[in-house]
Amino acid sequence: MTNMSPKYLRFILRALPNFLWPVRWFILKSSLKKVGKNFRFGYNSEFVDHRLIEVGDNVFMGLDTTINTTVAVQIHDNVMFGKRVTIMGGDHNISEVGTPMRFVKTGGKNEPIVIEKNAWIGSNVTILKGVKIGEGAVVGAGSVVVRSIPPYSVCVGNPAKPLKLRFTEKELEIHLPAIESNLTPQLVLQQFKASRDK
Ligand SMILES: CC(C)(COP(=O)(O)OP(=O)(O)OC[C@H]1O[C@@H](n2cnc3c(N)ncnc32)[C@H](O)[C@@H]1OP(=O)(O)O)[C@@H](O)C(=O)NCCC(=O)NCCS
Repeated sequence: MTNMSPKYLRFILRALPNFLWPVRWFILKSSLKKVGKNFRFGYNSEFVDHRLIEVGDNVFMGLDTTINTTVAVQIHDNVMFGKRVTIMGGDHNISEVGTPMRFVKTGGKNEPIVIEKNAWIGSNVTILKGVKIGEGAVVGAGSVVVRSIPPYSVCVGNPAKPLKLRFTEKELEIHLPAIESNLTPQLVLQQFKASRDK
């Protein structure tokens, strides 16, 4: 199913009646480029283009998740989504002179999206092209993420900006080795400071 065209897959999924949601769920899950163990996602979720989406172990996505992309989307281990999270991996071409955008054949900016391990994306968040959400980061409900988010930060708003770090330096010294992170407390603090100074 992984190699099936998105159009054909959508046709099959929509042809199935609602009470056959478990069948739809299974087909959709099996269609992704890569799926880890214990992947859960909610009713009415949509993954297009399924051939470009990779999901790690223990990932949870709430109902109405939408991933719509023409480039790679990677979601690493233990990531959680609230309800109605939307990931949009690309734009229409908005710069072509002399043609209504509806009829422009070339795409706009399409850049891969990565959500690193242990991040939590709140309900109704929208994530746009080219964004990396750092390890262990939190994105507050309703935020629109247009720039990358540093690891272990709590980011909120439209556009989402870092509000604070989840942990103190002392807590990071305990937490990072405990979860076998490749990061150091110094690196986390540095990246947070750099994102605040922008
Ligand atoms: C991001 C979040 C975790 C922060 O919680 P918190 O650490 O308790 O933060 P606080 O409530 O103390 O808020 C701190 C500040 O951020 C602001 N803020 C918090 N969440 C915000 C959000 N989602 N959007 C915009 N601003 C937000 C608050 O207004 C407050 O601003 P102030 O200091 O100017 O008053 C929480 O607000 C949130 O959005 N949770 C997501 C809930 C959700 O979607 N659950 C789905 C279940 S899986």
